[in-house]
Amino acid sequence: MKKFLVIGNPIKHSLSPQLHNYWIKQNNIDAVYNKQELVRGELKNLILKIKNKEISGANVTVPFKKEVISYLDHLSDGAEKTQSVNTINLENNKIVGHNTDIEGFELAIQDTKFDIINKEILILGAGGVVPSIIFALKKMGVNKIVLSNRTKNKAEDLKNIFKDIKIIEWGKLVNFDLIINATSIGLNKSDKINLDFSRIGDNKFFYDVIYNPKTTNFLNIGKEYGNKIENGKMMFIYQALASFKIWHNIEPKINDEVIKILDND
Ligand code: ATR
Repeated sequence: MKKFLVIGNPIKHSLSPQLHNYWIKQNNIDAVYNKQELVRGELKNLILKIKNKEISGANVTVPFKKEVISYLDHLSDGAEKTQSVNTINLENNKIVGHNTDIEGFELAIQDTKFDIINKEILILGAGGVVPSIIFALKKMGVNKIVLSNRTKNKAEDLKNIFKDIKIIEWGKLVNFDLIINATSIGLNKSDKINLDFSRIGDNKFFYDVIYNPKTTNFLNIGKEYGNKIENGKMMFIYQALASFKIWHNIEPKINDEVIKILDND
């Protein structure tokens, strides 16, 4: 039986095992997908287990998406350009790092039918998934990306990779068509982002990477001011789907059952 894993810290709340195991069963694959909390020093050993085929593949989440790169033999183009890996696969005895968050975000935005070409984007946060979001946005042909993060030097690090993004101070707002919450504010239902949205107007799109809870305060505010809103559920599903395709060479189905797995508010 093939073994797959998602590694991260914390990992308790990850829904990846439920989703992958559902698709594994649906497709009659002899495999199992588990989650494992790691500490930094254990990363190398885990990658060795993939190399010697004890484990067939892994998803990587916060805080290891960048750090894991030093243990890999090869990176896909997207993983290389974002310096972020969320999927590891053994290919011709080489350990390859892929980034399916890029595709996940792109397909999720396409699903919303929001016309993103030439739009102005404001990103809140500079955590693990943000390089993938920036890469996808640029690929989709946006006009301008502005980024704001509480810890400014993390925003500056991203500007070193993506030279044409603009950094603004945390707490400030600029005009935008699409605003993306990529901070962890909202994971707890009572979390509030300390920004004043009262003058931003309507006809904007509020996108939250968080999918559990289903509606964050950030999304509630967007809705309150008459804007389009969407949570990160489809992004999560599409990144998992792309990983599944890499490992099993099968395109799994997104049906009501899959949606239900993610809807555990
Ligand atoms: P990581 O930073 O380890 O990759 P993450 O969950 O991907 O983890 O990112 C958390 C993001 O939420 C960061 O951008 C973080 O800002 P800092 O870089 O300043 O830590 C942001 N964040 C978390 N709590 C926040 C808060 N109370 N106010 C503002 N930003 C917050």
